[in-house]
Amino acid sequence: MMIPIANPKASYLACKELIDDAVFRVLESGWYVLGKEVSDFERSFAQWCGCSHAVGVANGTDAVEIALRSVGVHEGDCVVTVSNTANATVSAIERIGAVPVFVDVREDTYTMDPGSLSEALMMRGAKAVVPVHLYGHPADMPAICSIAHGAGAAVVEDCAQAHGATICGRKVGTFGDAAAFSFYPTKNLGAIGDGGAVVSSDNAVADRVMLLRQYGWRKRYESESKGVNSRLDEIQAAILSVKLKSLALMNGRRRQIAEFYNREFSKLPIELPLTGPGCEHVYHQYTLLCDRRDDVVAHLKLAGVGTGILYPVPIHKQPAYIDDFSDVILPVTESLADRIVSIPVYPELTDDEVHRVVHAVKSFFVKT
Ligand SMILES: Cc1ncc(COP(=O)(O)O)c(C=O)c1O
Repeated sequence: MMIPIANPKASYLACKELIDDAVFRVLESGWYVLGKEVSDFERSFAQWCGCSHAVGVANGTDAVEIALRSVGVHEGDCVVTVSNTANATVSAIERIGAVPVFVDVREDTYTMDPGSLSEALMMRGAKAVVPVHLYGHPADMPAICSIAHGAGAAVVEDCAQAHGATICGRKVGTFGDAAAFSFYPTKNLGAIGDGGAVVSSDNAVADRVMLLRQYGWRKRYESESKGVNSRLDEIQAAILSVKLKSLALMNGRRRQIAEFYNREFSKLPIELPLTGPGCEHVYHQYTLLCDRRDDVVAHLKLAGVGTGILYPVPIHKQPAYIDDFSDVILPVTESLADRIVSIPVYPELTDDEVHRVVHAVKSFFVKT
């Protein structure tokens, strides 16, 4: 049996009865969009993150866009971010009509390099900065916030891959002016469909998010400002509330698996994921760096182990963007793309499966 790179069905089965009950409760209630389940989830998710507000939206891409609009980004503004991220981060910036400015990442954690950020802000200024907590590892938020705020730019954290990651005990999502989460089914906190949230401790920002997600309505059918339809539905919220209760435990299991991989792979000729000082990684992905990456992928496939490449081509090199960013050179980002490979790390992996993954990885390097 193939061990997939992610397994959202296993995540459902892990709390099937509670989820089935929650879904049944919503179906019976007759209220399906933005109701009590959404507000209950928003309250508990805000509390879990350590923020004053969480506002549910339709998906993580909308969460980035609405968060940016809510901190004051408009058409034509520059927004600094990284190029080794999901297309979503950049698509959200461009949907506003804002201009993405790419900076390089650190060699150790693959997250935004504060030095490159500083240079970019000195050269062109920006309205906002979007660091991405890639693979579950926090970006260097103290440095990034100090540089961005010092240059008058707001900070919107992209937390889509890092629910619960911390720096000195403080959760990601609490450092910036606002933060965006995705609840796509494979995320550390995943719905059974699309979902997202913006969190913030700034009352005015949270109020703007509330308005923006539903046509700018404070009062039904009356737009106080211009908005969109980006609502979270009751079924997803009820499911998320069930899963939120075990998120810390599930992140702990991810860490346990990752630490086992780290020990088992310590003598192989590959680079293992690092955890920065004071940080807690939540291993949305367990990503290795190795030469002959494509041979490793083929070997693991034959051994029944799924892999992922996040991301095979940096955004600025993709066909849709290459003309706009032909002068952009990001040496670290570009060097990662050919060498990264993620192996399964989701919490429902059995010990047996974890051993199979270890054996498959080791056998490549012993064989060759
Ligand atoms: C870093 C990052 N940002 C944003 C998103 C967008 O989330 P969604 O797929 O819910 O729109 C994702 C999800 O793939 C992501 O990984």
